[in-house]
This record gives sequence, C-alpha cells and structure tokens, in this order.
Amino acid sequence: MKSLKSLKSLKKSKQEILNPFSPNFGQLPESILDREGLVSSYIGTLSGKSNSPEWTTIFSGIRGSGKTVLLGEIAEQAKKEGWIVLKITAGGNLQNESLAILSLESKKGNFDISGLSVGFFGFSAGVNFNNSEISSWRTKIMEYLDKGPKNIKGILICVDEVQKLDNSLRTLAIDYQNLLQDKYKIAMVMAGLPHAISDVINDTVLTFLRRSNQIFLSGIEYRSVLNSYNAIFSKNGFNLSKDNYKIISKMTSGYPYLYQLIGYYAFEICTHKENDEIDLTSKDIEIIKEKAENRMAKSVLEPIINSLSEKDKDFLRAMSIDDGKSKIADVSSRTGMSKSYLSQYRKRLLESGLITDSERGYVNFAVPLLREYMRKPFGMPKFRGFQDMNEYGE
Ligand SMILES: Nc1ncnc2c1ncn2[C@@H]1O[C@H](COP(=O)(O)OP(=O)(O)O)[C@@H](O)[C@H]1O
Ligand SMILES: [Mg+2]
Repeated sequence: MKSLKSLKSLKKSKQEILNPFSPNFGQLPESILDREGLVSSYIGTLSGKSNSPEWTTIFSGIRGSGKTVLLGEIAEQAKKEGWIVLKITAGGNLQNESLAILSLESKKGNFDISGLSVGFFGFSAGVNFNNSEISSWRTKIMEYLDKGPKNIKGILICVDEVQKLDNSLRTLAIDYQNLLQDKYKIAMVMAGLPHAISDVINDTVLTFLRRSNQIFLSGIEYRSVLNSYNAIFSKNGFNLSKDNYKIISKMTSGYPYLYQLIGYYAFEICTHKENDEIDLTSKDIEIIKEKAENRMAKSVLEPIINSLSEKDKDFLRAMSIDDGKSKIADVSSRTGMSKSYLSQYRKRLLESGLITDSERGYVNFAVPLLREYMRKPFGMPKFRGFQDMNEYGE
C-alpha cells in the first residue's frame, strides 16, 4: 500500500502536467491533425511554376474549422523553404502592415538589403486609392524582389480573416495579380468565412480570383482524432478505456475546435483524479460534454446566430425539429414560407457553410451542435428587479 504522503505527492505532480490542448482561436496546437496533405501540396506548388492557379489559394471554412492554424502552418513551412512570409489580417491597411512585416522579416533573416533604395522601409506606403499610377506598394515589392536579398525564393502573402472586400484588400489583390503577370515570385493564400470568401471571389474586378484554387476546409477524420487522443492521454500516463476514447472522439464530430475543447476538459478531469483512478466515468463524460457544449455555444454558435436574420433563424429552428436531415417541404410548412421564398435563405445558409444540401430536396446542419443549440429557447434571461421585496412587506 502506498503511504498517504506518496499518494499526495503523486497527485500533485499529476496536476502539474501541462494540459496539451489549446481550445483558443488562432493558437497553433501541439499537433496539427490531417492538414499535412493541404500544407505539402501548397508548398509543393510554390516550388513549381508561378502561373499555376494554385499559387493563389483561398481557404474558406466556418469559425473554428482551423483556417488560422492552417495558414500558420503554411507560413512556417514556406519560411523553411526560403520564402519571406507576410502574415497579415484583413480589415486594416494591408499595404502598410505587409511592408512593416517585410522590414521585420528581413532583419530577422539577416537578409542583405543593401541593394534597396535608402529609406526603403522608412516611410509609409499607404495606398492612394485615387491614384491611377502604379501604387507605391507594388513598386516597393518590385524593388524588393529585383534588388533585395538574393537568397530568398519569393514573397508569400498570407491574408487571414478576410471579411469583406475593402479598398485595401481589393488594391492588394489587383497589385498582386499585376506582379504575378510580370513574373515576380509572389504568391498568396487567403482565409475567411465561406460567405466572405464568396463575396471576394465574385467581385467583378477581381475575376482572376475565381480561377484561383478554392478549398473549403473540412473536418478532421475520426481515426485521426481517436489516434491522437490515444497517443496524448497515454503519453501522460492516463490510460482510458477503448470505449471512452471512442466516446470522446465521436463527441468532436471531427471539428477542430471541439477536438481541442473536449480534449482539454477530459485532460483536466484526468489530472484531478485520485491516483488509483485512471479512467473517465460516465459522470465525467457528461461533465466534459456539458462544458464543451457551453463553451462552443458562447464562442462559436452565438456569434454565428447573432449574424443571421430572423428568417434565417426561423429556417434553422424549423430544421432543428428533425434529428437528422430535413425535408425542404417540411421546413416550408413549419416556417410558413413558400418553397421559392425559402430558397434564398437556403442559398445564404449554404454559402455560410452552416447547412448542407447533399441530397436533393433535403438540408442538414453542417456545424456540430448547431441543431441542439437551435432547439433551446431563445432570448436573454429577463431582468427581474428586486426578488426580496415581498419578504419586507413592501
Ligand atoms: N488541424 C488541426 N488539428 C488540431 N487542432 C486544430 C486544427 N486546426 C485548428 N485546430 C484548433 O481548433 C481551434 C480553432 O482553430 P482556428 O485556426 O483558430 O480556426 P478558424 O481560424 O477557422 O476560426 C484552435 O483551438 C486550434 O488550435
Ligand atoms: Mg481564424
């Protein structure tokens, strides 16, 4: 029998194990599941001809599907291959932001930039939107690639969180296209929510983006989730039963954010267990599920729903009555909207990546837990003034 003291010290050391899961947006996880194919295929393209449409790749996916992580990984790999990577976030002045990063990366990489004009990085290269001449940003990129460091493969621009096509992004895209046409070694990957990407691609000016490589980010495979949980938990001395690995893996639906969330809560519970307990109980599983669902509701489902119109919500609520796919005809009768009227909402929800229509005449939810979320009664809890007045006879 172990002494109480040794039990305590063992328990403490267990609690000190760092939780390897990172249920935070944009955070590079300890291991990235199922994206090697996408990453290596893009990196492979970069070593090929620049006129390949894949040089411009656009990823779309719902919140939490792993766009930022994927872009981060592509950036890392491209750097290793000798590319200068300019990682920027849409919404601001992309020209200034990218040049600031170019300056930083040049310093970090100890690149020889003696060929550049004096003060190359010294002043702002903001866009003059009314200027019909070559933009100063484009001129600078040309100068950098012509006279800057000789030992770089090229410049890769990664634009994350594309939301709408503002002036800065539109100008950047046009300049990028011109640079490509002039055979400069410049490539671009973008990422954003599906409807934002579809707006950008369908822009009348940027028709070249329509010919780019567009990839909708799907989930990670069940096998990968199962193997990864198995490896991570057992590496840390927690040996769950086969069934429990299966249960928690299924709970993720292959959705990256849920993979992190469920892994995180399961790991927390394991670290707080008494020494001789090694497996999760069914009560633990319930707790994990509830915690993950609550977090998922706050950080993914609520923002999604808040961005929808009342009619969109009616559509989803009508779908949530079913346990699986819903007949369009049923959605129509439940909402009281005619089929033709309904079709515009169906289209919008499809474009947002919230529903699928893989079977003719049917729709289904494409976001895990969205159905369950739509079933819950809505609205903020009502503010109920003083609750204790009666006690005082007031
Ligand atoms: N391929 C992956 N394997 C494991 N975890 C991932 C993967 N991609 C993303 N994640 C995790 O999922 C969460 C959401 O990823 P993120 O890239 O921020 O999503 P998005 O940018 O699409 O909203 C983060 O916690 C991240 O660590
Ligand atoms: Mg992101």
